[in-house]
Parts: sequence; C-alpha cells; structure tokens
Amino acid sequence: MILDVRNISTVFHLRRADIHAVKDVSFQLFKGETLGIVGESGSGKTVLCQSILGLLPKPPVKTSGHAYFDNTDLLDCDSKKLRQIRGNQISMIFQDPSSAFNPYLRLSEQLIEPLISHGYKSRKNALEKARIILSETKIPQPQKRMYQYPHEFSGGMLQRAMIGMALITNPRIVIADEPTTALDVTVQARILQLMKRLQNQYSLSIIFITHNLGIVAGFCDRVVVMYAGVVLETASTADLFNHTAHPYTKALIKSVPSIDNSKDSLYMIPGMPPDPAARLSGCPFEPRCRYRTDKCLKSENRLRETGKNHFTSCIRVLESELSL
Ligand SMILES: Nc1ncnc2c1ncn2[C@@H]1O[C@H](COP(=O)(O)OP(=O)(O)O)[C@@H](O)[C@H]1O
Ligand SMILES: [Mg+2]
Repeated sequence: MILDVRNISTVFHLRRADIHAVKDVSFQLFKGETLGIVGESGSGKTVLCQSILGLLPKPPVKTSGHAYFDNTDLLDCDSKKLRQIRGNQISMIFQDPSSAFNPYLRLSEQLIEPLISHGYKSRKNALEKARIILSETKIPQPQKRMYQYPHEFSGGMLQRAMIGMALITNPRIVIADEPTTALDVTVQARILQLMKRLQNQYSLSIIFITHNLGIVAGFCDRVVVMYAGVVLETASTADLFNHTAHPYTKALIKSVPSIDNSKDSLYMIPGMPPDPAARLSGCPFEPRCRYRTDKCLKSENRLRETGKNHFTSCIRVLESELSL
C-alpha cells in the first residue's frame, strides 16, 4: 500500500451555509495500480484530492481524517514537509492545461521550476532533464519547443507537457483530475496511452479522477464510486461492471451512451443530486433510486464487503434483498 486515506471529511464554512463536500471517505492506493475515482460532477472528487494534498484554504475549509503516505499523515504534518512531498513524491495533473501554465513564461522555466525549488543545483542539468521528459511525452522537437510559450502549443500538446511537468521529479503517485476531459476523443486516447506507458516506465501509482466510465473500463484497475461526497461502492474494474452492487453505479453504467443504442433509448438518471448544504441521513441516492424502501433512509451508509475486495453501502444489496 502506498497511500491509506481514512475517514476524510471536508466542509466549506460559508456565510450562507456549510457545504459538506466530502463525507467520511476512505480508500487505499496500492503500488503500481491505477485507481479510478468516478462520479457525476459535484460529487466531491476534486475536493477529496485537494483535501488529501492540503491545497484548500484553511479557513473557510475544514478537513478531518488521515492520509498516510510512508508513515506520514499528510493531514497532520508541517507545511514544509507537505510542500516537499507534494512537489517531489505526489504530483497532480489538472483538467485544463492552459490554466496550469503561466502564459508569460517559457515552458522550460515552468518545467524546471519543481527541480530547482527542490534542490537541483545545476540549471543546465535541469534543462536537459526537461528536454528528456518532453521527448518522452512525444512532443516533437523538444529542444526547440521547450523554449516556446504556452500559447504556441495545442491543447493536446500542452496536456502532454503538463504530464511531463508532473513526472519531472520522479514522483511515486500522480493524481490526475479529469486530465483528458477537455480533449477530443482521439487526442484523449493518445494521452491515456502515454500515461500507461509512463506509468510502467516510472512504476507510478495513479489516482485517475473522471466522470467517464468508458475511461474507467479501459484504464483503471480498481474503482471508487462517489456520489454527493460519499463513497457508494468500491471494487476491481471487472467486478464493478460485471457484478455491480449499488443501484447508483448501475444507473451510471446504464447512462453511458452507446453507438448501437437507438436515439430514443438514451438513459438519464431521474432527479438531481442533493443540495450539498443539506444534512441528509441514510443513503444519499435514495430520492433518485428506483429500488428505494423506507429502510434506505435509516441505513448507516457504511461500506461493507459484498464480495472479495468489493464493498458497497447499499443496505438492500448487503441484506440480500436486491440483486442487480
Ligand atoms: N470553493 C468552493 N466553495 C464552496 N463550495 C465548493 C467549492 N469547491 C467545491 N465546492 C462544492 O463541493 C462539492 C464538490 O465539488 P467538486 O469536488 O468540485 O466536485 P467534482 O470534482 O466531483 O465535480 C460541490 O457541491 C461544490 O459545489
Ligand atoms: Mg472536479
């Protein structure tokens, strides 16, 4: 195990209300694996990862829980150590590469910044490392391209450069937050291929946040399904699709458009996700669930094992009243 996340809850204390964005989330990440975190937008995926890395402003945000990385609790260590881990050992790739780069600086400066700030003495060596990493991400003519500005790159190229920047310090974990959502599908496929190759080369563990189940199926080993700030199901990718254990997961899978479905069979989950300011009891998916009963409102909403390494919080599945 390389990262052990336990009982993370994050609340935004705003003037108008308290937003409970993440509620008691636990998961583990193992060496070399790709863990998908999937859920509709607003389900708390980004806030969860920002909480783990301490990237949210302390007031108004309050995070509780633990995230153990190499016996260090990331939620309970001094800011200097956290910054060191964040730059060196755990790095992030964001959805929008154009906002991750400074438009006024050449790519070279931005690529070597994490090296220089983590003690790399020689600028020449750092630049050489930047050139190597750019060529590994298959950016053509890296020696020339690295001295250009972000606006001279296409979206796909810039996303490659951001992946390069995330890997330049040889991190052990990469957290990728919807890294291909802004790209068209052919570019997306190439970026995913690139990430797989670099994952093997650098023996990385990847947390891959997405709302796209197609990507989960093709790219992730294991999956955490989030809804309204809580985890509803976690399983290996094969089990998630073949032995789905939560009605929400079932509905998500059903709502993936498929080429052979006719137009009128496009499925949409009825209703809307709950208001994050409301304090709910029981299963948060209950109002939208076609299998709901009175006991769902009283359920503890705690993950329990339904198969080997397969966990769900659906009380009806756990009590064998329902099989999906
Ligand atoms: N800066 C913020 N201030 C207040 N609420 C926020 C802020 N960022 C996120 N949230 C709320 O937290 C919840 C989870 O958001 P987020 O983690 O961004 O979802 P996801 O990444 O799954 O789309 C949402 O209800 C969102 O409105
Ligand atoms: Mg997000």
